Amino acid sequence: MALMSETFDYPGFNAWMAWVGAIDQYLIDTQQAIGYSLFKFFYNIYLHPLRNYPGPFLARGTHFANFFWVYKGNLHTKVKQFNAQYGDVVRIAPDMLVYTSAQAWKDICGHRKAGSGSFLKDGVWYSSVGKTQPSILSANDADHSRGRRLLAHAFSEKALREQEGLLQSYVDLLVNRVREYAVEGSPADMTRWYNYTTFDIIGDLAFGEPFGCLETRTYHPWVKVVFQAIKAMTLIRPFITLFSASVLNMVVPKKLEKARDASFEFSKEKVHRRLALQTTRPDFMTYILKHNDEKGMSIEEIEANANILIVAGSETTASLLSGCTFFLLTHPKVYQKFVDEIRGAFQHEADITVQSVSKLPYVLAVLDESLRMYPPTPNVLPRSVPQGGAIIDGKFVPEGTSVSMAYYATFRSESNFAKPDCFIPERWLGNDPQFATDKKEALQPFSFGPRNCLGKNLAYAEMRLIMAKLAWNFDMTLQRDSYDWDQQITYNVWEKKPLMVRFTPVKR
Ligand code: HEM
Repeated sequence: MALMSETFDYPGFNAWMAWVGAIDQYLIDTQQAIGYSLFKFFYNIYLHPLRNYPGPFLARGTHFANFFWVYKGNLHTKVKQFNAQYGDVVRIAPDMLVYTSAQAWKDICGHRKAGSGSFLKDGVWYSSVGKTQPSILSANDADHSRGRRLLAHAFSEKALREQEGLLQSYVDLLVNRVREYAVEGSPADMTRWYNYTTFDIIGDLAFGEPFGCLETRTYHPWVKVVFQAIKAMTLIRPFITLFSASVLNMVVPKKLEKARDASFEFSKEKVHRRLALQTTRPDFMTYILKHNDEKGMSIEEIEANANILIVAGSETTASLLSGCTFFLLTHPKVYQKFVDEIRGAFQHEADITVQSVSKLPYVLAVLDESLRMYPPTPNVLPRSVPQGGAIIDGKFVPEGTSVSMAYYATFRSESNFAKPDCFIPERWLGNDPQFATDKKEALQPFSFGPRNCLGKNLAYAEMRLIMAKLAWNFDMTLQRDSYDWDQQITYNVWEKKPLMVRFTPVKR
């Protein structure tokens, strides 16, 4: 060796050999990585415990097909297509199954028998990059029931009755803003105005003060961040599947990290400002504080939940209102029946209350049909199969599998609804034989079981009041440039386009 190194030790040779060695090692690593990936692909297709579940070949073998649809924003339509091709259950990733049957709602999200573990929220899907705060949405069972018991007071019927004055004041402000457009004769972008309204309402209920969107006619900066954060989380999630949240924390751009922290600090400060107020106004905090005891929530949990309440309660309701307006205005006969019911039911605008609008069957049918056609959460909300596995839709699924209802695909599935892609509110009225075989229990846009939406009654109250007051005051027409408004992509929620509507005051 001494001779060799003496003989060949001329400048550059050792460096050259080091390069050759590095390239060689790189090729070996690459070969190993390719070999491992091929093996993993082969394993996922032929040996994996889910190998007998149907789905597209690439999606069964690798996560990348699923990531591709997530990035393209067309997961909802892809799953609908697979549902028609493969049936009620589809394997859309090596370790993920999505369902579209009514039975699967019960099996995945329903109450479980004592002793059998529950389907917790999928840790990867619900993990957050960075500061993780405990919130009701991702909590374990014990923390969830503790939080839910307390929050339920803020969503009781009594609370809703007491919150009516607050709701009405924002709906009236919306009507006044829309009237300005009507007087000017220019169309209004209702996607924005519904967002302004629902964010102001929930901001007031959660923080004790609105975001001021309706007042200032513009998005509050915090609200803008909410939209960016939802999309960013949807796009980051695939990386969490491949790596881990802690690795991602190291690579998340500092700008994003700062925006997230600033947003969290903002809501924290708002919560503290509200907590310092001595008031009995019927917002969420009053009910939380009134019932908070040693089994209640810590300050950190109240902060985290205030955040979740705003995100869960505003974007969802605003989406549905936009969807409902679009479908009404593109279906003239339905629109006419809808306004006739509202205008025929009341003598004066002041008669339109949460209580009185809840008695209008056609309005409810229109809202339910809109929830079916345009569910505010169109994709998946995955759970993890508990220890020991479970039976879903009559078939065994091994523990740890990520399982979810496919919201959009379930509500638009031919095996659940006749004419699934047609907007026909009459199907909910129960007297048309062509819809006698509809599986109505498959429509669960607010989820199902012990973790279903806490704000469902509040959402219906808001949606009914807003739609009824708009229809009472104005005739509405959709602008030509919004005719294809429903052709949208999704990043967990809809990426909504402007919905341009022209309003004409109703003459009485
Ligand atoms: C049309 C409107 C709405 C729809 C379609 C909707 C839908 C949903 C869905 C699908 C879930 C389950 C989420 C999951 O499994 O991860 C949920 C949970 C929740 N929603 Fe809503 N939501 C709406 C309005 C509201 C409103 C107005 C509030 C009030 C702040 C609200 C508060 C909540 C809360 C607190 C949860 C978590 C419940 C728990 O984990 O126990 N939602 N919602």
